[in-house]
Amino acid sequence: MNDDRRFVSPVLQEDEEQSERSIRPRHFEDYIGQTNVTDQLKIYIQAAKMRGEPLDHVLFFGPPGLGKTTLAGIIANEMGAELKITSGPAITRQADLASIVSNLNDGDVLFIDEIHRLNRAVEETLYSAMEDFAIDIVMGKGAMAQTYRLSLPKFTLIGATTRSGSLSAPLRDRFGVLAKFDLYTVEELSQIIRRTARILDVNIDEESTELLAKRSRGTPRIANRMLKRVRDFSMVMGNGNITVDMVNQTLDTLGVDKAGLEELDRRILSLIINSFHGGPVGIDTIAAALGEERVTIEDMYEPYLLQLGFLSRTQKGRMVTDAAYTHLGFPVPQRSPEPAPAGKTQDGDGVEQIRLC
Ligand SMILES: Nc1ncnc2c1ncn2[C@@H]1O[C@H](COP(=O)(O)OP(=O)(O)OP(=O)(O)O)[C@@H](O)[C@H]1O
Ligand SMILES: [Mg+2]
Repeated sequence: MNDDRRFVSPVLQEDEEQSERSIRPRHFEDYIGQTNVTDQLKIYIQAAKMRGEPLDHVLFFGPPGLGKTTLAGIIANEMGAELKITSGPAITRQADLASIVSNLNDGDVLFIDEIHRLNRAVEETLYSAMEDFAIDIVMGKGAMAQTYRLSLPKFTLIGATTRSGSLSAPLRDRFGVLAKFDLYTVEELSQIIRRTARILDVNIDEESTELLAKRSRGTPRIANRMLKRVRDFSMVMGNGNITVDMVNQTLDTLGVDKAGLEELDRRILSLIINSFHGGPVGIDTIAAALGEERVTIEDMYEPYLLQLGFLSRTQKGRMVTDAAYTHLGFPVPQRSPEPAPAGKTQDGDGVEQIRLC
């Protein structure tokens, strides 16, 4: 199945654009969680307003569906500016970028989604646009070529990427604020579900809210999508009110289990257990064995499996944890603990820490 059509895909689906608009928070008060990011930004926004200057350029990074576009809209709102949205692959030529940026007004916010996918020439043009608010345009060819400097309005660039590692260092260094988005906790997702239910005018009890939150993979977009599907189910199969029974029935039908795992999550874990004795195994080997793209696994599946504590990343590769064995109904193997390398700590040297919710 195409990733974009998977029910638990965090990626925006075509028919969702319209309905997302009505539930997208427009002010900081409605934006739940990500306080590490929002607390900082509120201060920078206030300081920029006090100086009468545009906000410094901001880079958002983190998995899809966590509220990057939403937050860009809130920032523009707070700055009293317009938001212009585009994406890395959509800007193919230097002239496209020049035309987008020169049409902005002072203080406006330009949001470039998937900024890691800008081509080289456009990326280099962006450097001077960000730093000097000017672009050098070359007219003509060979000996007749002349360079013109085009002055630009003082705009704020917000770049978004699912992976900060694939951004070139010169581009990353030109952002004054780097903001990492984390998966949401069950409590935060419950608040988001309650808010969306209010907007959609559906009744949902506390237990059902928590159940949905637990099965939303730490992702608001999935939480909202599930809520809408359960609402449909409840209207047709029940009296319209969302109950635990309705949540369970809907999500069972959709193949989402109690931990929020879907088929590919289970295939990833089962593969490592059955074919690699629980790991460690390299991500490329996992991707090849499952016939999936490495980026799909890394961006859309791994973050949640790491958050749940079902998977761990070590220098030697991915390992399945005892909790995953238990969840999938496999007997937990007796493993002798690996001694930590001398002079190195567990969380240093590229071994990532897992954040549990
Ligand atoms: N912090 C939040 N509080 C409440 N709702 C949120 C929050 N973050 C996201 N949402 C909801 O989730 C939906 C998806 O968010 P958004 O489109 O901003 O994600 P994104 O990170 O830009 O995704 P992508 O990477 O696919 O572009 C929004 O429509 C919004 O309703
Ligand atoms: Mg977005």
